[in-house]
Amino acid sequence: MHVPLISVIDGNAANRAKVADVLMSMYRVNQYPDAERGWHGLRVAPPRVVLIDDEIPPHGGFALVNQMRLEPVLANVAVVIVTRHDKEEIAQTLEQCGAKACLSKPYGRNHLIQTISSLINQEVEAQWNDLEEPSRLALRGTVKIFNDISESIAAGEPVPFISVKDACAPLVDAIGTNDVRDILDGVKEHDNYSYAHSLRVATLLSLFGHTLGLPREDLMMLASGGLLHDVGKVAIPHEVLNKPGRLTDPEFEVMKGHVTETLRYLDAGNAIPKPVRIVAAQHHEKLDGTGYPHGLHKGELNELARMASIADVFSALTDRRVYKPAMEAEKALTLMTEQMIHHLDQHLVRLFRTMLLDAVHT
Ligand SMILES: [Fe+2]
Ligand SMILES: [Fe+2]
Repeated sequence: MHVPLISVIDGNAANRAKVADVLMSMYRVNQYPDAERGWHGLRVAPPRVVLIDDEIPPHGGFALVNQMRLEPVLANVAVVIVTRHDKEEIAQTLEQCGAKACLSKPYGRNHLIQTISSLINQEVEAQWNDLEEPSRLALRGTVKIFNDISESIAAGEPVPFISVKDACAPLVDAIGTNDVRDILDGVKEHDNYSYAHSLRVATLLSLFGHTLGLPREDLMMLASGGLLHDVGKVAIPHEVLNKPGRLTDPEFEVMKGHVTETLRYLDAGNAIPKPVRIVAAQHHEKLDGTGYPHGLHKGELNELARMASIADVFSALTDRRVYKPAMEAEKALTLMTEQMIHHLDQHLVRLFRTMLLDAVHT
């Protein structure tokens, strides 16, 4: 698991710095001012995606792209052409050089990030084709429903719970088999952090339920609850959500709001089952009452909430973020035992540890 490298080749220093500044919150970034230095840099460190301005000195961006196509280590790197022209004006040249996307200036920060992210995800998702069922169906189905949900929320429409449940069925089929490992591995490199985190929580939570001997219908609730538990994060500003390092007190207050937002979205739909709602509502509560949003205590937290907080904490610690590498599973479990003794149900943490040893690492 590593943070994707993006290269930016642009003759204008101010533009280059601006683009790099946006991308650095998500990726590693290399930048070059012209074709010659770009060519050298790309060969030394081939990126996942390269942004090339079509007017770079000395012969323009398309000449560099054509040169890349003849170099084995660079031939398949995804290229985004940045241009002052309309996409339609240069459509033919774009197609001839095999550029995957084009950004016409001026473009916004979100458009930039979405363009790069979707190129990375196309590659990651294409690799899922090689997996067997049910892993392949679980990954395909959940990424689709996750994107659909994000669109529903943006359009002010309720979350379609029945579709979420349907998408989780292959995931539950995989529980208790080696396919679980394929699912966890398959989502590692996915560039939609919210999806990757939510799917990991869904998988770990339903696996946890299976370990505790819960019936299939309950595992469906745990998988759906895991996939939906953080959907309210779409309302949290990017700078807070992806801030490297510690949040300030006011920022943390904003971040806490994701639980209320999630419930608002879920409650707008009909028939969200109670267990799904509990996972979403209580995954940040802690046994000693220091959690949020309600500071519930031990006696008020049922087993579902305790399981959800363990799966969520473990996933957050072992997720890769741009500002921190993924923590080793063993280290995360030790931390959850030694430093979260007042937060997490330690009996369940022990079962969770055994489950991971049995199901994921063997
Ligand atoms: Fe959360
Ligand atoms: Fe979470």
